Amino acid sequence: MHFSGKNVLITGASRGIGAEIARVLAGYGLKVWINYRSSAEQADALKAEIEAAGGQAAVIGFDVADEQAFIDAIKTIVESDGELSYLVNNAGITKDKLAMRMSVADFEEVIRANLVSAFVGCREALKVMSKKRFGSVVNIASIVGETGNAGQVNYSASKGGMIAMTKSFAQEGAPRGIRFNTVTPGFIATDMTSGLKDQIKEAYIAKIPLGRFGEPKEVAETVAFLLSDGAGYITGETIKVNGGMYM
Ligand code: NAI
Repeated sequence: MHFSGKNVLITGASRGIGAEIARVLAGYGLKVWINYRSSAEQADALKAEIEAAGGQAAVIGFDVADEQAFIDAIKTIVESDGELSYLVNNAGITKDKLAMRMSVADFEEVIRANLVSAFVGCREALKVMSKKRFGSVVNIASIVGETGNAGQVNYSASKGGMIAMTKSFAQEGAPRGIRFNTVTPGFIATDMTSGLKDQIKEAYIAKIPLGRFGEPKEVAETVAFLLSDGAGYITGETIKVNGGMYM
């Protein structure tokens, strides 16, 4: 894997898929900026782990749903490193309920945390990357943004919105040399899915041709490819990492 850029910001990177993306990208030689919202200790531990393995890492705490905080964070990174080479919008939440019981507040909270935050990240990245005419962004959406899912009208809308938004950013970024792509994970073994009851897990696994949940590393390697120079002719694309659950 070859990277011409120097650094990457990964949102929600103190655990789960985001932490694995940080490990993998640091392993490929990028300085990783680990964003966290409340888990400072976990973020510091990940930084130490990456440094012990010979990589470069920095920690940056902010709430991605806070527009000004996100803007300030990107400013801090550019002031420190002279640029932002890559961005991975990974932070995300769920607030599942059947639609008939879902309040507008429940709906808006998830849209703000998942979609509005990614919009702010993409917009700010496009501004700073345009100055260098170099950069690449990957947004982490979800299989349910492609298929829908009962109990997740808010989450699926946020992730489906990300897929469409990424294609629009790709069109605006292309003349400036900036690529935008989406990864749509299926069921991945992290905190987000560990709470599922065994019966429900088994029912999902029965629908997955590869017969298992995915590993965070399998998402991280796909993100690395999309960011890398090897994917230089790929933009506005959505790559499914779902074990064949939805083709
Ligand atoms: P996770 O819940 O383990 O990690 C999500 C991270 O985002 C956490 O560190 C959390 O603190 C952070 N975060 C949430 N809201 C934030 C905010 N406002 N500001 C800053 N950080 C915030 O979840 P996981 O599984 O690692 O998910 C990562 C991404 O992958 C999410 O966008 C999720 O929707 C997506 N995804 C996960 C799947 C799975 O099966 N685990 C499947 C499809 C998509």
